[in-house]
Amino acid sequence: MSDAVSVSDSVSGAHVPTTRKQIVVGVGGGIAAYKSCALIRSFTEAGHHVRVVPTESALQFVGKATFEALSGNPVQTGVFADVPQVPHVRLGQEADLVVIAPATADLMARAASGRADDLLTGTLLTARCPVLFAPAMHTEMWEHPATVANVATLRSYGAIVLEPASGRLTGKDTGAGRLPEPEEIAGLAALLLERRDALPRDLEGKRVVVSAGGTREPLDPVRFLGNRSSGKQGYAIARLAAQRGADVVLVSGYTAGISEPAAVTTVHVRTAQEMQAVIDREAAQCDAVVMAAAVADFRPTTLVGSKIKKGDGEPDSIELTKNPDILAGIVQARRDGAVAPETVIVGFAAETGDEDGDVLTYARAKLARKGCDLLVVNAVGDGKAFEVDHNDGWLLSADGSEVALEHGSKSLLASRVLDAVSGSLK
Ligand code: C5P
Repeated sequence: MSDAVSVSDSVSGAHVPTTRKQIVVGVGGGIAAYKSCALIRSFTEAGHHVRVVPTESALQFVGKATFEALSGNPVQTGVFADVPQVPHVRLGQEADLVVIAPATADLMARAASGRADDLLTGTLLTARCPVLFAPAMHTEMWEHPATVANVATLRSYGAIVLEPASGRLTGKDTGAGRLPEPEEIAGLAALLLERRDALPRDLEGKRVVVSAGGTREPLDPVRFLGNRSSGKQGYAIARLAAQRGADVVLVSGYTAGISEPAAVTTVHVRTAQEMQAVIDREAAQCDAVVMAAAVADFRPTTLVGSKIKKGDGEPDSIELTKNPDILAGIVQARRDGAVAPETVIVGFAAETGDEDGDVLTYARAKLARKGCDLLVVNAVGDGKAFEVDHNDGWLLSADGSEVALEHGSKSLLASRVLDAVSGSLK
């Protein structure tokens, strides 16, 4: 049930081809139900056909009219409306994706036990497409053995149950159980439409350190040496690694204002030296390090304490000092025994070709020079890789294999990189 449409890329503004899909958005009866409105909107804006199926209690939080207006389709909760159309069978059968947001403890319990006492649970039994649950509840409910067992059951049936975010819950409580941000759920849903097997739980029990974004090297309190990294690729890797079950530390430089991924410990740093200190500490006890950050190669030698004024005393040139190569440092630490020998180390390379060699030639040389296990190579220039939502490239491995990474979302590329990391883990 899909046909081609063209939608606007939210970042670049360019029209990118996509495919219209049938998405069922199930809404459980929790306070986070209001956030499903943003999710529904992002699906319709991406050109998809959306049917909203709330539970009866979800309508205590958001009115039916809101869901109908946002989706442009009728909304019902029970199986006895529109009976000749047999909606509980048709909706599930025709869907390309079912997303439940928020998935409450009660809704997951009913789904895990195969109940079909309303339109949403009936739809879940007939759907054969990917089903994504985005849980939201209080921490105690999320951690209760009954919920833990229901989540495990749903996963054993092939459903994807996202890790919730931590943070402020209803009232004064904080802890695990917050609904991941709608943009994050939408991104993961889009990935499942690109690749339905993108979210296996293959990183459970693994600790993954990811760097992302760009560093800024200050010259004075106002000016810095920086770069165009948006952080999107590294954040996509961290987000996906967490949803594949890993314990993730994201060491983030400056980004284009991306929100922190759910279920990830994010440490913010400013300079290359700060990033190196955190990465060195975290790499000492982890299973994989993915260096997606754009680290400034140089920093101003002198940090001036007050703004350098134009005119009198203004320097003619600025002296720079080379920054440490963090990636090469981890590889060396692994040789020296400070990092475990089985730790998988992944580097990134943004390359352009020239008259002396193409992108792959330079990338092969970089892999050898850095000594990492995997190198993700992006061709840059002509609006590629930086600041946009799409990416492609190659994945080079120290064992000599070279795999083309198909053009697609940065989440799709992240999923391919994590497949390789997962395959290399001991
Ligand atoms: O040498 P180049 O900067 O192209 O290498 C890119 C790779 O090296 C990326 O993985 C980047 O995160 C890492 N890097 C680093 N420390 C630097 C510069 C780059 O870890 N100072």
